[in-house]
Amino acid sequence: AGHVENDLVEVLFTEKQILDRLGELAAEIERDYDGKDLVIVGVLRGAVMVMADLARSLSRHVEMDWMAVSSYGSGTKSSGVVRILKDLDSDITGRHVVIVDEIIDTGLTLSWLTSNLGSRGPASVEICTLLRKPEALQMPVDVKYVGWDIPNEFVVGYGLDYRERYRNLRDIGTLAPHVYS
Ligand code: PRP
Ligand code: MG
Repeated sequence: AGHVENDLVEVLFTEKQILDRLGELAAEIERDYDGKDLVIVGVLRGAVMVMADLARSLSRHVEMDWMAVSSYGSGTKSSGVVRILKDLDSDITGRHVVIVDEIIDTGLTLSWLTSNLGSRGPASVEICTLLRKPEALQMPVDVKYVGWDIPNEFVVGYGLDYRERYRNLRDIGTLAPHVYS
């Protein structure tokens, strides 16, 4: 008891697979934004790991900024209402922005964030997500960089939590049934 890795029933992506894939996405980003000013925006708290590893895979200059958002209440994500808990520190007017998150589930968070940041006069706004669940999508989200599409099942690790636990796992996987009971 107490050892987080013991609660995984299946590993979907290992730390090495994740870092390799982020390296590929970083190479695409370097190519696409060559010679351009770039800000990457991490969505707290889940995106912390992806931001850290993606940013370190980039050999170019990049600014890292952060936002924290929350749906109103719990279980009301489908309401489409999001509020800002922590805004950007930087002005993104005229700058190229890539929003970084670890998963797109219903799409609400990133759909809302994309239009919110888009209204601030940036040169461009794109999305980079490590995971996406196409079957769970409820909002159209235009994603430029995606690590993997996955089935609609609950995953934890590498920033993804279950009741604020398991974010610190290096791998991504599914939880054993006993965890939920
Ligand atoms: C999770 C995840 C994404 C979002 C995806 O964040 O990190 O940001 O949900 O779901 P959606 O596509 O249905 O909006 P959450 O709001 O749970 O907070 P966290 O990042 O602090 O875990
Ligand atoms: Mg999140």
